[in-house]
Amino acid sequence: MATISEKLFTSTTKEKTAVPKNKITVVGVGQVGMACAISILQKDLADELALVDILEDKLKGEMMDLQHASLFLKTPTIVADKDYSVTKNSRIVVITGGVRQQEGESRLNLVQRNVNVFKFIVPQVVKYSPDATLIVVSNPVDIMTYVTWKLSGLPQNRIVGSGTNLDSARFRYLISQKLGISTSSCHGYVLGEHGDSSVPVWSGVQVGGVSLQSLNPNIGTDQDKEDWKDVHKQVVDSAYEVIKLKGYTNWAIGLSVADLSESITKNLSRIHPVSTMVKNFYGITDEVFLSLPCVLNGQGVAQVVNQKLTDEEVAKLKKSADTLLAIQKDLKDL
Ligand SMILES: NC(=O)c1ccc[n+]([C@@H]2O[C@H](COP(=O)([O-])OP(=O)(O)OC[C@H]3O[C@@H](n4cnc5c(N)ncnc54)[C@H](O)[C@@H]3O)[C@@H](O)[C@H]2O)c1
Repeated sequence: MATISEKLFTSTTKEKTAVPKNKITVVGVGQVGMACAISILQKDLADELALVDILEDKLKGEMMDLQHASLFLKTPTIVADKDYSVTKNSRIVVITGGVRQQEGESRLNLVQRNVNVFKFIVPQVVKYSPDATLIVVSNPVDIMTYVTWKLSGLPQNRIVGSGTNLDSARFRYLISQKLGISTSSCHGYVLGEHGDSSVPVWSGVQVGGVSLQSLNPNIGTDQDKEDWKDVHKQVVDSAYEVIKLKGYTNWAIGLSVADLSESITKNLSRIHPVSTMVKNFYGITDEVFLSLPCVLNGQGVAQVVNQKLTDEEVAKLKKSADTLLAIQKDLKDL
């Protein structure tokens, strides 16, 4: 007796399932992981989305909720499991698993708890997707990116920390609010550590091709009567403020991770400030990951932009590197 399917279709290929070409896995289906997932789905970046977590009910619930949106999406397969075989053949793996900051807690304080979680996650990810590019989001993100590089054994171009991509987006938004111009037309970078010691590069802030420093040589300094320095202070304070107000941050980081993913899946060679190995840049001699402007494409981090930084900016980068190194030195079993 022929089935409906056999009667409905004139010919069927023997291959029932094609290997996905742009599969994206999100590890950790908490607030950040699900914001990444929905942002990736809305941008039609993946032909398959896989979710992994240790909380089985939450994982299944999130998967079903997304599957029920299938009519409104263009990602035909959405799967989830606590077993990493579900992540097989991923093009990108976004790692958001672990614990997040409590109110008032610094990102660096989280480190040991999240290192222990990564010792389980990273080898499993690499086992099933040895060709993937990994985007690390869990905090403290620069150290967790280093930890991922160490645990994965992957080349450094395929390890991308979300880094100051979000800090730079906040920076550009706040500049846009001061000038009444679209965020996308306000250019500028926050580099270095994602978080408290991040470095605003005032010399590179441009609007409409005009350097703001050429209009106000004191921009960002204590001598600046317009107090642009406060824009960077707000960038640093903003995660703490959002966490105080709503308990966590998720939408902006989710959308920024989808933006990074798009540069990789579409081989765009766009420049993003992301956390990468900075050994041999700006006189840094140790294996530390910090954000610099990077060309992101299908290879992951294809190039690092050699921005001309002031002595003060280089000094701040080196200070961040020293802070991270001091913590990395105490990490065991990497
Ligand atoms: N890089 C950034 O800009 C940025 C921004 C916001 C948050 N974060 C960080 O992202 C991380 C996640 O934040 P959140 O708000 O989603 O936290 P959350 O507590 O809501 O979610 C974390 C998820 O990770 C899961 N998890 C724990 N151990 C796991 C394991 N071994 N394997 C798989 N999953 C595991 C938990 O079950 C939970 O569902 C935190 O470290 C947070 O600090 C980074």
